[in-house]
Amino acid sequence: MSDEQPVDKLTEAQARSELDRLAATLAQADRDYYQSDAPALSDAEYDRLKRRNAEIEARFPDLKRADSPSEQIGAQPAEGFSKVAHAVRMLSLGNAFDAEDVRGFDQSIRKYLGLGPDAPLAYTAEPKIDGLSLSLRYEDGRLVQAATRGDGAVGENVTANARTIDDIPERLDGAPDVLEIRGEVYMSHADFAALNERQAAAGDKRFANPRNAAAGSLRQLDPAITRARPLRFFAYGWGELSAPLAGTQMEAIRRLDALGFATNPLTALCDGLEALLDHYARIEEQRATLGYDIDGVVYKVDDLALRGRLGFRSTTPRWAIAHKFPAELAWTRLEAIDIQVGRTGALSPVARLAPVTVGGVVVSNATLHNEDYIAGRDASGQPIREGRDIRLGDWVQVYRAGDVIPKIADVDLTKRPEDATPFTFPETCPECGSDAVREAGDAVRRCTGGLVCPAQAVEKLKHFVSRAAFDIEGLGAKQVEQFHADGWIREPADIFTLEERFGQGMQQLKNREGWGEKSAANLFAAIRDKRRIPLNRLIFALGLRHVGEVAASDLARHFGSWRALIATVDAARPAARCQLESEAALRSEREAAATEGRRARIAETRARVWDGLAPQARAAWEELIGIEGVGETLALSLVTSMAQEAERASIDRLVAHLEIEEATAPDTEGSPVAGKTVVFTGTLEKMTRAEAKARAEALGAKVSGSVSAKTDLLVAGPGAGSKAKKAAELGVETIDEDAWLALIGA
Ligand code: IVH
Repeated sequence: MSDEQPVDKLTEAQARSELDRLAATLAQADRDYYQSDAPALSDAEYDRLKRRNAEIEARFPDLKRADSPSEQIGAQPAEGFSKVAHAVRMLSLGNAFDAEDVRGFDQSIRKYLGLGPDAPLAYTAEPKIDGLSLSLRYEDGRLVQAATRGDGAVGENVTANARTIDDIPERLDGAPDVLEIRGEVYMSHADFAALNERQAAAGDKRFANPRNAAAGSLRQLDPAITRARPLRFFAYGWGELSAPLAGTQMEAIRRLDALGFATNPLTALCDGLEALLDHYARIEEQRATLGYDIDGVVYKVDDLALRGRLGFRSTTPRWAIAHKFPAELAWTRLEAIDIQVGRTGALSPVARLAPVTVGGVVVSNATLHNEDYIAGRDASGQPIREGRDIRLGDWVQVYRAGDVIPKIADVDLTKRPEDATPFTFPETCPECGSDAVREAGDAVRRCTGGLVCPAQAVEKLKHFVSRAAFDIEGLGAKQVEQFHADGWIREPADIFTLEERFGQGMQQLKNREGWGEKSAANLFAAIRDKRRIPLNRLIFALGLRHVGEVAASDLARHFGSWRALIATVDAARPAARCQLESEAALRSEREAAATEGRRARIAETRARVWDGLAPQARAAWEELIGIEGVGETLALSLVTSMAQEAERASIDRLVAHLEIEEATAPDTEGSPVAGKTVVFTGTLEKMTRAEAKARAEALGAKVSGSVSAKTDLLVAGPGAGSKAKKAAELGVETIDEDAWLALIGA
């Protein structure tokens, strides 16, 4: 660059052409950086050109280009990272908090696989690194993509940043053609301390803990910043593979090691439960001197063939679990108790605390669960904390475990202020003044204001637009709050009329703070895009009590269409009333405390209440509660919410704007049982009940717990009783286990 003119000598024409040249050179450098592993420019030269560009722009502000390199943060679009769909979902782990939970984990695996309590079963145990997971994709031995976990299905493309991490090899020798390595990015204690010192010296914000520092560093839009941050990586698993790595986890880890990845030296092969717990104790002993944060020990079934059989639940593998270290504790003063109102009207007490550091994080809020918890009782009225209640001004113990919301564990009565009085839990909603009532058997007090209550309405709307629900780009919790406060959106249906009401010429929206012409147009486009929505997302988005993401998918899969779901839910209304009545009757029976003859009385009460019910209502109710994953509680919530006039009208208004995609069963092409409702009964000999169910569902079948007219097939093992009888009565086809295995080609 010897022919470069000093900036202060440039004429306007020279400056213009120099800015053009710099924009082209820097854009090319960004592309090189992302796509090849031999960038043409050194970092120093790149930075120098960027500075020169900025100096010229400062001298000739009018010449600044629309695509000026000073506005580009690295090569990524300014909005953030591009999205990457994971070829194999990145799941999380279930948690165990004590030896009992670990025993339960071992037992459930044995049960699923049909192994006796003494059959050999090997696991690996390794530290659970407190960082963030990353998936590295290698094709023909070259790193082609690095992605964060995101929501497990879609993550962020952080390839350029990952390339700056020393523990991540660019090239591999002898790897399968396609190899996705999964592991954890983290920062060591020493590097974290040094980084925070540098941050403080530069007047930048300090990070709360190494995990936040690692996350903040990996998710930098400018890879040059990531490069300056000392990140590390431990490999512990894999996603898509063109050829298996090994037959066991332990061998696979050795293979990753040989390929040049850092693997954790505390990974051990353990023969059964006791060995796992021993290794846990060993790791816990070393925790303080490891030099990086860990928050537990991960156990995995070693044999990969068994793992294949065990498979996954909706978000976690059956073959692994995280045994977490005990929670971290601190004492502080309780300054206030605020009551928050959630989307289902639940009044939740929140402790406002004098800030205190708990395990490296400053905590000033914690949950107090509900009014019984504050009063020192559990849901059944039994004392907790030996009956000590919690009062304003009390000295309280705060604990947190992992990412979980901090909780109040205990209270120190010796430090209680003399004038402290028991906390009075409000009986009216602090947001709308409606009565807040506790139904029998419910630990939670709820606002009865429904959609009239602004807090409920806003929380419902926030849930509606959240990621697993409608996920409308540009319409997050903050925007929903604003729109609601201004009366633009009161219920979900209003989102879909926003454009028609406020979009003309974009005037009104683009004049609002934080909105411009482009973002307004993008928002309306994003809303239009979501008029077409998969059935499961719609069901989840309604935010009904007890209907979470998994239940919503179960319901969608079972009913296929909105119309079929609604028909059954509406038909089940009289049955829901019976359910409520019999629950109330049963409660009073229990309270009557007479144990003698109770079973008979309960049965009698049930029969009395359900006797007069129309057969269609009973069939609809049985269909609902027969869906795996849908119990009486969920069914009751679903039917009663849909029966509430205001709520139902609001849902109907919403649905009128939508085109609902019907649910289809998963990858079931050619499956002989896709769409069929199957019931298993009796003893299965070649596989366990859980395994049978999981395989049937993977083939697109609906597995139900009870036989009804909708059952297509009963698989009956030895000892089948009333279900086989009922199937015979209803003329439902019945086969044995071998015939089932033959049918599904197993
Ligand atoms: S195995 C199918 N092993 O913990 C999921 N995860 O709480 C397999 N993690 O998302 C994960 N150390 O980010 C595994 N040694 C380890 C781990 C580990 C940390 C993280 C990982 C995962 C999270 C789940």
